Amino acid sequence: MSIVYLNGRYLPIEEATISVLDRGFIYGDGVYELIPVYRRQPYRMAQHLARLHHSLDGIRLANPHSDPEWATIVTELVARQPFDDQGVYFQVTRGVAKRDHTFPKDVPATVFMMSNPLATPSRETVESGVACVTAVDERWLHCDIKSTSLLGNVLMRQFAADRDAVETVMFRDGFLTEASASNILVVKGGVVLAPPKDNRILPGITYGAIYDLARQGGIPFEMRPVRESEVWTADELWVTSSTKEVLAITTLDGRPVGNAAHAGRPGPVFRKMHALFQASKPGA
Ligand code: PDD
Repeated sequence: MSIVYLNGRYLPIEEATISVLDRGFIYGDGVYELIPVYRRQPYRMAQHLARLHHSLDGIRLANPHSDPEWATIVTELVARQPFDDQGVYFQVTRGVAKRDHTFPKDVPATVFMMSNPLATPSRETVESGVACVTAVDERWLHCDIKSTSLLGNVLMRQFAADRDAVETVMFRDGFLTEASASNILVVKGGVVLAPPKDNRILPGITYGAIYDLARQGGIPFEMRPVRESEVWTADELWVTSSTKEVLAITTLDGRPVGNAAHAGRPGPVFRKMHALFQASKPGA
């Protein structure tokens, strides 16, 4: 029985209940975060808390906790789970009020947190890479907010699942954005290309880690708009997220990714980055 956190209390998940009038339920009026925890140590917690703050600012909801308060709850929750590698999920909504689109006054936010076992990619998946498909990005223009209003992302993820793919890589106006629950990076001529962190993508914390590791490891990294044509002619494609870490995309819409030397297989820059990422994890 998993112990979760709800509005100041730690309790078994079966006993954690909220009102049907919660604005998270009625409107998807809330934001969330997911922090990976390796060997009971959160990975890049400061960056995740900063992004949570950015998301809350983006929906004009006051942050209900200071960073030290959030850190205490994370520590408590992690300590109450029987497994070492965890994914701590946070959700903050605009609280419970009579249904009305405008913001309610003087209503406390609902704060829910749970921690599940972190299922990191298997050796096999790392070695073989993953299949992805493509689609036009039909989501809204505030994708930098980690909102619980995820219908666009849910439909894109199912689009991939229906085609036995792990992700849907999306394009807006001829440029790469991201995937349904992960960021996409491109390698061309030894340079890692990443779409800029603007309103069209979620600023992934894993993307940020890869950026730092590339700089430290002497791998050229350019943040700039990436054309759809550059994705189709990439030497390598990577997918990054807190749960996928970094994985090579080896087929896109059924076509092998990459040049003749490693078409359809993870490339050399991926191998280097994967090793750097593994070495950067707490307790590695
Ligand atoms: N998804 N882009 C989108 C749309 C995402 O939902 C995510 C994360 C990312 C990668 O962000 P990060 O590297 O910080 O995990 C990019 C999480 C894992 C989720 O929704 O469960």
